[in-house]
Amino acid sequence: MRFLLRLPPYVAVAGISSTVIFACTLIVRSNPSGKLLAQETASIANTAPAAVYVGKQVCGECHQENYQSHAKHGHAGTFFDVSQTELPDIFASQSIDGGESFGVYQYALGSNHSLNVQVQGADQDAVLPLQYALGSGHNAQTFLTLFQSDDGSTRGLEHRISCYHGGTQLGLTVGHLNKSVDTPMEIYGDEIEPSTLQRCIYCHTTTAEVRSGAITNLVANVNCEKCHGPGSEHVRLARESPTPPPYSVGQATWDSESELQLCGDCHRLPRSLSKKELREYPNTLTRFQPVGMLMSNCYLKSNRQLRCTTCHDPHGSVHQLDEVQKIEACRDCHGESNPSHVPCPVNNQTGCIECHMPAIDQSQGIKFHDHWIRVR
Ligand code: HEC
Ligand code: HEC
Ligand code: HEC
Ligand code: HEC
Ligand code: HEC
Ligand code: HEC
Ligand code: HEC
Repeated sequence: MRFLLRLPPYVAVAGISSTVIFACTLIVRSNPSGKLLAQETASIANTAPAAVYVGKQVCGECHQENYQSHAKHGHAGTFFDVSQTELPDIFASQSIDGGESFGVYQYALGSNHSLNVQVQGADQDAVLPLQYALGSGHNAQTFLTLFQSDDGSTRGLEHRISCYHGGTQLGLTVGHLNKSVDTPMEIYGDEIEPSTLQRCIYCHTTTAEVRSGAITNLVANVNCEKCHGPGSEHVRLARESPTPPPYSVGQATWDSESELQLCGDCHRLPRSLSKKELREYPNTLTRFQPVGMLMSNCYLKSNRQLRCTTCHDPHGSVHQLDEVQKIEACRDCHGESNPSHVPCPVNNQTGCIECHMPAIDQSQGIKFHDHWIRVR
């Protein structure tokens, strides 16, 4: 079950220019921090205003099929305002024992369908709002509260208790089990440094500005324009002609490597890991699918042509596929009809995933499939 939402209307767009530009998209991709984007856009802006975000509903007007399948993808639910979800109803009046080091968390409804938490026995005044929830709920939703510190920077609090498997289970946030509590705030959760907070919001939203303890210009979730870039110019040109010029993946420079950088920007690439982690490949690395894929012979020995979209429709959720669809790509390369790759001597029809990229349990019942495809 996904949480039902009362979605805010998307920001309307004004001031679209009449000059063609479509350079921004690839810059977004090659650029995890997004910093260069602003610079490049500024230099382009000398000749024309930059393309701006129009919101996925506008894309949906012409690309209905992609719009509808994206709506069922985890990407469409990575960042929520808690008051606009069912989470307050799930948590209200519950109390959850976080264990010896943390205490008992007591939840209560606030005004306007908001949700607050208080730790029993802790400072009576300390009632904390649970502002944002990250994750679609398929695996988990973790709460985030923003606050401004004395030096003016915006920090975050990742709450101790998360919601698992579509609201059916509440429990300690993954990774919090052995945390120590050094400040009163840490009873409630892990404090997050400003730069980490920026990154966290960057990966879970299409665009957002974090400033003065708040988020502005928020377009939540991983929507069309997170991957394809701000779309106002494309929309303007597509309204003028049925054959608009290349915009995003239609550009000549778009290739496997661009895609790897795009997906890997959030799903992680080897560059964000230590050499030791890479060498030892602990089970926790299975969360980072690109890292595993890059180690596979399917990738290394296919001229590096294997990419995420060989197996995944970027708009369609993997959870919606049946068993046959999930192994279609394996059979395309390893089946009888393709003599250029070796077949499986054990079972060349079914069960490829279970034997060659099994699901590995992380904790709280969350499983990730090991994308290091190999014989084990
Ligand atoms: C007025 C109709 C219209 C709207 C609105 C629209 N598109 Fe398109 N789009 C088209 C047409 C027409 C094409 C070219 C034919 C095709 O590939 O379907 C196209 C092609 C594309 C392509 C593939 C070709 C390329 O150059 O990359 C992508 C990706 C794309 N659109 C994304 C988007 C996104 C994202 C939005 C919302 C920001 C959007 N479109 C809004 C009509 C539209
Ligand atoms: C801006 C960050 C970001 C980018 C870019 C991104 N993802 Fe994701 N992806 C996420 C997050 C966050 C989730 C978790 C959604 C959830 O909580 O269920 C996710 C979930 C997924 C899932 C599992 C959920 C489902 O419904 O299938 C797949 C598969 C996936 N991404 C594939 C891709 C592929 C392929 C690309 C590149 C074309 C990509 N992602 C690019 C952030 C991103
Ligand atoms: C580098 C990008 C990135 C950053 C930074 C990031 N996330 Fe995520 N997050 C993802 C991706 C990708 C997924 C999807 C994991 C998957 O399904 O493979 C995800 C999934 C999740 C989920 C769903 C549960 C799960 O494991 O699938 C939660 C909850 C979550 N993130 C919370 C957070 C919080 C809280 C922060 C900041 C403290 C954060 N994330 C920072 C990319 C990121
Ligand atoms: C996670 C990243 C991601 C998101 C989110 C995303 N796309 Fe795409 N899209 C891609 C990639 C990658 C391709 C190229 C697919 C390929 O090469 O097979 C693509 C291809 C396309 C195309 C051209 C091929 C086709 O399927 O018609 C269109 C049009 C398009 N996307 C529209 C959209 C729209 C509309 C949305 C939002 C509803 C959206 N995309 C969301 C990554 C994304
Ligand atoms: C783009 C084509 C391609 C796809 C798709 C593909 N593979 Fe491969 N795979 C290869 C190539 C190339 C090799 C190296 C051996 C060879 O040339 O056949 C390989 C090797 C393997 C090996 C032996 C690896 C080792 O290190 O011992 C296994 C097991 C395997 N693939 C399973 C799978 C499974 C399961 C899938 C689907 C989830 C899959 N492959 C999808 C191309 C592919
Ligand atoms: C050879 C096929 C193949 C390739 C290539 C591939 N995946 Fe997957 N992926 C799968 C299969 C199969 C599943 C598990 C489906 C299921 O739930 O049973 C999966 C699951 C996922 C999930 C859901 C969480 C999990 O690990 O179970 C995410 C996220 C994901 N893939 C991201 C990616 C990204 C990002 C890339 C590119 C770096 C990629 N995948 C490349 C086949 C592939
Ligand atoms: C019951 C587990 C199991 C299933 C199901 C299974 N495999 Fe295998 N596969 C193996 C084992 C074990 C080997 C190593 C066999 C050996 O070396 O004698 C292997 C080897 C391979 C190889 C390497 C062959 C070589 O000569 O190097 C490929 C490729 C492969 N499997 C692909 C697949 C594909 C594709 C599927 C699904 C259609 C699949 N496997 C289903 C267990 C399995």
